[in-house]
Amino acid sequence: MTFENVLTGLKNGVLTITVNRPDKLNALNAKTIDELHEALVDAENDHDVKVLIITGSGTKSFVAGADIAEFADFNVEQGRQLSALGHFKIFNFIENYSKPVIAAVNGFALGGGLELAMACHIRIASNNAKLGLPEVSLGVIPGYGGTQRLAHLVGKAKAFEMICTADMINAEEAFQWGLVNHVTTPELLIEKAEQIAEKMASRSLVAVRTAIKVINAGFNKHENGYEVEIEEFGKLFSTEDFKEGVSAFLNKRKPIFPGS
Ligand code: COA
Repeated sequence: MTFENVLTGLKNGVLTITVNRPDKLNALNAKTIDELHEALVDAENDHDVKVLIITGSGTKSFVAGADIAEFADFNVEQGRQLSALGHFKIFNFIENYSKPVIAAVNGFALGGGLELAMACHIRIASNNAKLGLPEVSLGVIPGYGGTQRLAHLVGKAKAFEMICTADMINAEEAFQWGLVNHVTTPELLIEKAEQIAEKMASRSLVAVRTAIKVINAGFNKHENGYEVEIEEFGKLFSTEDFKEGVSAFLNKRKPIFPGS
């Protein structure tokens, strides 16, 4: 599949999706949102894809937010739709994705860009990254899950400060706050993301998928994460991956997981 604003490349079971609008600092316009959604749907159905990395084109910007020019004249209903469709097509979709998604944050991750990174399961930043939710400086608030995910990731107090001041933080602060898992140089960013992705790809994908589901259940008000864990833990005992994992351990060999 060829896209206008999104590049994809598959290596060793890891699909790298690159948001590619460098002249607009990779801002998310409607076409880019649709293409990202399509790439994610394709990858979900592709058995060769085991883990995803999302990054931005160039070194200046991961994603500098939603495309401001595109929503400048929106009315209330269009604003609501912009947010709702984004949640559905990208942000909730990634959070609940059946394969791990890693954000490789290079440069600016602002507004929808930071929200995209926060929807991913883990984040790795280059040391030139600048992260922020500047929406209140435009007269809006984060509308792609940022008010919720930032508070989950760094706590309410820091989320209030970051959202209400609209200030950016650098990669080191983001690391100290727990917002990003690792910080590297720009040159090593993708390599670091690939190392982690390939390790995940070597594990039981059934178990990894289940772990994502159960961790997310604990953050869902309508579910009891512990109860979901008990049920999902039990279900894994019927899988081929479980048989293979245990057999490989007992026979002192490396497992070859069938993924079922
Ligand atoms: N939406 C639309 N276009 C954007 C954009 C966005 N979120 N962010 C950057 N761009 C465009 C600029 O308009 C500019 O386009 P032009 O060359 O056609 O004028 C181009 O990307 C380069 O950006 P520029 O502002 O010239 O780069 P800079 O280095 O001076 O500043 C930023 C970089 C990130 C600080 C600045 O672009 C910015 O503040 N962007 C908006 C961030 C934001 O508020 N995001 C949340 C949106 S809800």
